[in-house]
Amino acid sequence: MNAIETHDLSRRYGQVEVVAPLSLTVPAGIVFGYLGPNGAGKTTTIRMLSGVLQPSGGSGVVAGVPLSEPDAVKARIGYANQAASVYVDLSVEENLRFKAALYLAPAKVEQAVEGTLERLALLPFRQHLARQLSGGWRQRLSIGTAIVHGPQVLFLDEPTAGLDPVARRDLWDAIYALTDTGTTVFVTTHYMDEAERCQRIALIASGRILAQGTPEDLRAGLPGVRYALNALNLNSALKAVRSLPGVQGAWIVGDEVRITTADDRLEASLAALGPLRRVPASLEDVFVAYLARQEDCA
Ligand SMILES: Nc1ncnc2c1ncn2[C@@H]1O[C@H](COP(=O)(O)OP(=O)(O)O)[C@@H](O)[C@H]1O
Ligand SMILES: [Mg+2]
Repeated sequence: MNAIETHDLSRRYGQVEVVAPLSLTVPAGIVFGYLGPNGAGKTTTIRMLSGVLQPSGGSGVVAGVPLSEPDAVKARIGYANQAASVYVDLSVEENLRFKAALYLAPAKVEQAVEGTLERLALLPFRQHLARQLSGGWRQRLSIGTAIVHGPQVLFLDEPTAGLDPVARRDLWDAIYALTDTGTTVFVTTHYMDEAERCQRIALIASGRILAQGTPEDLRAGLPGVRYALNALNLNSALKAVRSLPGVQGAWIVGDEVRITTADDRLEASLAALGPLRRVPASLEDVFVAYLARQEDCA
C-alpha cells in the first residue's frame, strides 16, 4: 500500500512554477527523504501534501484521502518543521495533551499522551517546561505533538536544521523508531548524510524531481568511475589531475584528492601520481551529477 501518491501535482505563484508537475509514490511504513537545496520547493510540496496549500494542478492521495478533501487529510497526518513550534510555557505533557485534545475523544487523550512520551523517550522530561528543553529535545517534543493523534503519515520539514551532530543522530533514531508501528515519515533535508539514512529518496531542484529511488539504486545508476588519490602535496596533485584530459571533476577531501572520470582509461595515469583506490559514489556525487545534467539541459 502507498502512503502517498501524486499525479502531476503542481503549484505556481503568479507565473512562477514553484513545483512542476510532480508524480511521487511513497510506500507505507518507510522513511522517505525529500532532498534539495534551499528554494527547491520542498516546503511547498509538504504544504500541498498536508492539505494546507491548494495545488494549482494535478491530484494526490495521502493516507488514503484525496487532497481534494483537505480537512480529512489534515486529520490523518502530522506535521513538524525546523521551528520546533511548541508552547514554551507549557510542560512537555501539557503540550501533548493540548494537541491530543484537539483531535481525539476525551477518553483517548491520556493513553495517547503516555504512548507518545514513551515512543519519543520523553518520559523523564514530562514535567519540564518546553522552554527548558535543549534544541534536540524541543524538536522531539514538536514531533511528539505531531504524532500524538496517531497520524498515518508524518511530515518533517528540515527537522534537524540547526541541531548539533549528536542531537541530529539521536533525532534520526527517534524518527526511525516511528516506522516500527507503521507510520510513514516524509522528511526533507539538505544534509546528504541524512539522505543516506532514508529508505527511499527523491532529489528535487528548482521545483523538479531529478531522480528518485533507494540510495543504493541512485548510487549504482550513476555513470563514471570515482577514485581517491593520496598525495603528499595535495595542491600540486590536484593540478596534475585536473590537467589530465578526461577528468570530469577533481576536488580535495581531507588528505585525498577525489576524482571522477567517465571510465577507467585514466587509471594508470592517476596511479602514477600516488596511491590510488576506487571509491563508491556518494549521494552527494549523485546529486551533483543530476544538478549538472539539469543545468546542461536548461
Ligand atoms: N507564498 C509564496 N509566494 C511566492 N513565492 C513563494 C511562496 N512560497 C514559496 N515561494 C517560492 O517558492 C520557491 C520554493 O520555496 P520552498 O518550497 O519554501 O522551498 P524549500 O522548502 O525547498 O526551501 C522559492 O523560490 C520561494 O521563494
Ligand atoms: Mg523549506
